[in-house]
Amino acid sequence: MPETGNGDTLTVTDNRTGRTYEIPVNEGVVRASEFRKMKAHEGDFGLMVYDPAFTNTASCRSAITHIDGEQGILEYRGYPIEELAEQSSYLETAYLLLYGELPTKSQMDEWTHDIKFHTYVHENIKKFMEGFQYDAHPMGMLVGTVAALSTFYPDAKHVADPVSRDIQTMRLIAKMPTMAAFAYRHNRGLPYVYPDNDLSYTGNFLSMLWKMSEPQYKPAPALERAIEVLFILHADHEQNCSTNAMRSVASSEADPFSATAAAAAALYGPLHGGANEAVIRMLGIIGDKKRVPEFVSRVKSGEDLLWGFGHRVYKSYDPRAKIIKRTADEVFELTGPNPLLEIALELERIALEDDYFVQRKLYPNVDFYSGIIYQALGFPVDMFPVLFAIPRTVGWLAQWREMLEDPEQKIARPRQIYAGATRRSYTPIERR
Ligand code: CMC
Repeated sequence: MPETGNGDTLTVTDNRTGRTYEIPVNEGVVRASEFRKMKAHEGDFGLMVYDPAFTNTASCRSAITHIDGEQGILEYRGYPIEELAEQSSYLETAYLLLYGELPTKSQMDEWTHDIKFHTYVHENIKKFMEGFQYDAHPMGMLVGTVAALSTFYPDAKHVADPVSRDIQTMRLIAKMPTMAAFAYRHNRGLPYVYPDNDLSYTGNFLSMLWKMSEPQYKPAPALERAIEVLFILHADHEQNCSTNAMRSVASSEADPFSATAAAAAALYGPLHGGANEAVIRMLGIIGDKKRVPEFVSRVKSGEDLLWGFGHRVYKSYDPRAKIIKRTADEVFELTGPNPLLEIALELERIALEDDYFVQRKLYPNVDFYSGIIYQALGFPVDMFPVLFAIPRTVGWLAQWREMLEDPEQKIARPRQIYAGATRRSYTPIERR
C-alpha cells in the first residue's frame, strides 16, 4: 500500500506489557500485520485481529468499483452507475471494468468482435449439459458447466501470462450467456439454440432463450434494453461474497474457469444472488396488499426476513434498486403489470416508515425489484441467479486480473482462534 505521506498514526499501549506502539494510518486503514509486533512475552505469536465475515477488514486495494454505502453511491472506474445505466451498453461497461477506461470506437468494435467470436461452446459442452437431469436447477448446471470449461481450455492455467488472461476473459464473458440459455432450454425440454452473432450481446442471449421456428429471432428493443440495464447494474459490486470467493480461489493460481465456478457457487446462496428468488416467493406468500402489515409484524418479531431489504454496505437506498424500479415501469408497459408489484410497493412503503427498518437502516436492495421484472419477462425463478451470474462474470474477472497484478497479494489464508479440545490420547473404538 503506498504511503499517503500525511504521517497519521495510531498509538497503542499494550496493557499486558506496558509497551507502546505507533502504527501508521494510511487511507484510513491500519495494517493488521502491525499488531503481530505486540507480543505478551518472548515467543508469543503476537496479536491477531478477529473479524468473522470480514465486516471491517479490507482484503485488497482495488481501483474498480467504489461504493459509498451511507450516501447510496455506486461508481465503476469513477463513472456513476446512473450514467452508465442510461448511456452505456453492457459490453462497453465490461470493457471499462476490465481495462479502466471507456473504449474508443475502434477499441469497442474490436472488443465486440472478439466477444462474438467466442460465443459458441464446444459440442461436448452441449453433450455435457444434456447429461443433467431434466429438472436440474439451471444455476447448478451453470456452476458445473463453467467448471467443466477448464478441462476444455488447459491453457487457462497459465494465469501469469497476460495474453492467456485476455483470451480466458473473452471466452468466459462470451460463453456465459450461451451456457445460461442452454440450461434454461434444457429445463424446458427445448432444443438448444446456437448463438446468433448478428445480434447484440443481450439480443443474442434473448434469441438463445426464446427462439422457436422463426429463421431469425428479433428481440423487442425495449426488452433488449431492459436486460442491458440489468446487466450493467449487476456487473460488479466490489468485495462481495462471490467476488471474495473468486479472489480467494484464484489466489492459489487456479485457472479462471474453476475460480469463476466457485464465485458462481457463492452467488447461488439465498443471502447473495438467490435473494430475488426469495423475494418472489415472499411476495407470493403474502399474496395480497392487505396482508403486508401482518407480514411486517412477523419480520419484526424475527420469524421471517424481509427479503430484498438490507445490505452489508448500503445503509441507504441501494442506487441500483432506484434504477431497477424505473426499468420495471418500462418493462411493464410492454409485458403488462406484474401483480406482485403492488404488494412490493406497499411493502416498501410500510417498511420505510417503520422504526424497526429505519433504525437498522434497512432499505430495498438490488434484488427487491429485479425478480419482479425477470418474472414479467417470462423467466422462471430458478433462472434468477443465472441472470445475475452472466453480468457479474465480468466483475469477477476484473477483480481476478487486478489481484494477479497486485504485488501485495498472495495465497489467501486467514488465521483462526482455536477453540477446540486440548491435546488428548486416541481411544480405541472398543473402549469408547
Ligand atoms: N429483514 C429483517 N431484518 C433484517 C434484514 C431483513 N432483510 N436484514 C437485516 N436485518 C436486521 C438483522 O436482523 C439485524 O437486526 P439486529 O440488529 O436486531 O440483530 C440488523 O438488521 C443488521 O443486520 P445484519 O444481519 O447484521 O446485516 P448484514 O450486513 O450481516 O446482512 C444481508 C446483510 C444482505 C445479508 C441482510 O440484510 C439480509 O439477509 N437481507 C435479506 C437478503 C437479501 O436481500 N440479500 C441480497 C443482498 S443484495 C444483493 C447482493 O449483493 O448479493
